[in-house]
Parts: sequence; structure tokens; C-alpha cells
Amino acid sequence: MTTVLVTGGAGFIGSNYVRHLLETEPGAKVVVIDKLTYAGNLANLRDLPSGQAGRLSFHKVDVADAPAVAEVFSRFQPRSVVHFAAESHVDRSIHEPQVFLKTNVVGTQVLLDACRESWKVSDGWQEGTVFLQVSTDEVYGTLGPEGRFTEDTPLAPRSPYSASKAAADMLVMAYHNTYGLPVAVTRCSNNYGPYQFPEKLIPLMIRNALNHEPLPVYGDGRQVRDWLHVEDHCRALELVRRRARPGSVYNIGGGTEMENIELVKLLVAKLREVVADTAVDEGLIRHVTDRPGHDRRYAIDASRIGDELGWRPQVAFADGLERTIRWYIEHTDWLESIISGEYMDFYEKNYRDLAPGRAG
Ligand SMILES: NC(=O)c1ccc[n+]([C@@H]2O[C@H](COP(=O)([O-])OP(=O)(O)OC[C@H]3O[C@@H](n4cnc5c(N)ncnc54)[C@H](O)[C@@H]3O)[C@@H](O)[C@H]2O)c1
Repeated sequence: MTTVLVTGGAGFIGSNYVRHLLETEPGAKVVVIDKLTYAGNLANLRDLPSGQAGRLSFHKVDVADAPAVAEVFSRFQPRSVVHFAAESHVDRSIHEPQVFLKTNVVGTQVLLDACRESWKVSDGWQEGTVFLQVSTDEVYGTLGPEGRFTEDTPLAPRSPYSASKAAADMLVMAYHNTYGLPVAVTRCSNNYGPYQFPEKLIPLMIRNALNHEPLPVYGDGRQVRDWLHVEDHCRALELVRRRARPGSVYNIGGGTEMENIELVKLLVAKLREVVADTAVDEGLIRHVTDRPGHDRRYAIDASRIGDELGWRPQVAFADGLERTIRWYIEHTDWLESIISGEYMDFYEKNYRDLAPGRAG
């Protein structure tokens, strides 16, 4: 049995990946480490089928805590590390950049050192070991109306979040170039799907619209993002974990480019239809002061992972969006239970102008 260490496995993408791995790899044991910040929740890993739950173990560990990480490596001897743990919200990085550097950069270095220590053999590295850095298209910066990011696009991050992810990506590649550590880096576009923390665009809009609360859209809402269903991302990560060339970088994207305002309008229309509630209406949309340094457009060229590993997105956006809406409607308990006091403070501070009259 192979043991896969998943960092940040109680977060949005990490928990979806853990489910995917347990389901598709009956021979895998999964060890999750997570600090359980406001964004991590054990409820995301609940209700696993009984045959799968026994192959999962969870440990509350900060990835920047070197002795605790070393202890996990010595106890479980993982052969793959899939590294999701990160501070991931751009708005929070504008308010608290130091937390991002500690987790995203120092945490990555601690894990890389643990891999070096644990995987080294006299003539190289233990067979089948890989460190997979789960990164973002935001490290490439912003695009004009034309063009797409390829893996050769120079890194030009513009927010403290993306700068910390770019720094971590560079460290990962440096460990490959300097020590030969078997690594891979993936850079994915915006994900959507179940278990996403409700400060991110799609769950935030669903929750607010269901409660007839304002739908805050930054600036003119014409920022373009490329959307990918989280299941497609997980399938891509598994291919990379199992088959990537050491030292390779893969872009992952859905080829679904859309302006934020267009997405919010689509979502409102679909939600209104699903819940048959005419109060769910575009009139709830409020344009709010734009985020400082807001990137205008991201678009991904994902041809390398298609050509080399045969990956293609399988979830059509319209289907994925409807499924996602239905999931949040069926899981309003989950949605409300994970909204911590800290999150509400953050929400009030950033969308203060929208707060009056908002319930809950
Ligand atoms: N969400 C997206 O659209 C997207 C797109 C591309 C790449 N990514 C990358 O994927 C990864 C996961 O993103 P997500 O959206 O699931 O994030 P998330 O914020 O939902 O989850 C992050 C998880 O990491 C944990 N964590 C935070 N700091 C930690 C620490 N110091 N030690 C251990 N655990 C810690 C949190 O508790 C949480 O469970 C991130 O690295 C992010 O950069 C996200």
C-alpha cells in the first residue's frame, strides 16, 4: 500500500482530492495534515464510505512546524506529498501578508526538507517518490484581452497571495535543480464545486442570493477568470502525481473564460430557476470598490497536460454550475456551520457598505 500525504486536506480542493484518491486508489493510505485555520473544516471529510474511511488518518499539524512535520514523515513514511495547504484568499493577503509568507513559503520549505530527509537513498531518491506543489495561474500575473498563460510565461505575481505562491513554486523547482528532488508543479485556474469556503465568489453569491442579501461585485465586474470544476482539477492532479516527469510544470484550466459579472448573472438566473424564487434577482447585485491591484484577466493554455498525460476537462460548465448550486442548497447546514465569527468579521469589514439589513 502506498501512503500519500495530503497537506491542507480539510480545505476546499484538498478535501475533494482526498475523496477522489480514496475512491480511485483502493491501494492508497491517505494521511492528511491540516492546521484547521478558518478555511479548514473536518466536516469536509465526514461521511466517507466505510471502506474508505479506514484508509484515512487526520493530524492537526501546521506545515511550518518542522518538528511536527518530521514526526509525521517518520511515523507514516509517505511516498507522495500533495501540497495544498496554503492561505488562499487574495483579500486576506492584502490585510495580513505575513501569514501568507509563513504558511505558503516557509511551510513549503519545511515540507521539501522533510522529503529530502526521508526519501534520500545512497544513489538518489526512493522509487516512486514525488512532491506535488498545487499552485495557481495567479503566479503569472494578469493578461490583456488576448493571449494565454503557458508554462513558459514568466512569473509576475501581483498580490501578496500570488507572490507567496510564486516564491513557493520557485523553491520547489530550486530543490529539484539543486538536489534532484522529484517534484512537479501544477498551476490551475479558478476552481468551483462542493466544500468551497463561502468567502469565495461562487459560494458567497449562492449563500447571499438564497438569503436575498446583496451580491457584492468588485468594480465593473469585467475581470475575466477561467473556471474549472474541482473534480476535473483532482483528476489532473492524480495524473500528475502518478505520471509526471520529475521537474515538470503543468498548467490546468477549464477553457471556460468568463467575466465575473457574467458569471454572477448566470448564477442568479440558474438559482432563481432551481429554487423557484423570484426574489433571487439581478437587482441584488451591488458594484463595490474594486480590490487594489485586481488582476484583469487570467487565461490558461492547458495543452501540455493534454498532450503529455491525456487530461481533458470532463465537466461542462453549465452542468457543473447547476450541480454546485444544488449541492449548496442541499448543504445549507454545512454552509452556515462553517461560517465562523472570524469570517463574519472579515465580511463586515470588507463589505461594510452592504451590511445594513443583512440577516445573520
Ligand atoms: N481555489 C482555487 O480556485 C485554486 C486554484 C488554483 C490553485 N489553488 C491552490 O490550491 C490549494 C488549495 O486551495 P483551496 O481553495 O482548497 O484553499 P482553502 O483555503 O479552502 O484550503 C486551505 C487548507 O489549508 C489549511 N492550512 C492553511 N494554513 C495551514 C498551515 N500553516 N498548515 C497546515 N494547513 C494549513 C487550511 O486549514 C485549509 O484546510 C492552495 O494551495 C491554492 O493556492 C486554489
